[in-house]
Amino acid sequence: RSVVVRAEAAETINPAVRKEEDKVVDSVVVSELSKPLTAYCRCWRSGTFPLCDGSHVKHNKATGDNVGPLLLKKHVS
Ligand code: FES
Repeated sequence: RSVVVRAEAAETINPAVRKEEDKVVDSVVVSELSKPLTAYCRCWRSGTFPLCDGSHVKHNKATGDNVGPLLLKKHVS
């Protein structure tokens, strides 16, 4: 017996970031990082998108979610 799962009405993940763009894409050349640590938002709620501003903490508390940033660390030899 097969089970068919239908997607509910599509919900957007991105509530407000750069909605005028068809697709939000950012790129970083890692060797050019100026700071030892840079945090990139993955919750789509940062006021400084694409950088994390800590807004994920409020989102996680309000929703029970567990999202956090992508951390880029400069290689130190
Ligand atoms: Fe979005 Fe931190 S504000 S991951």
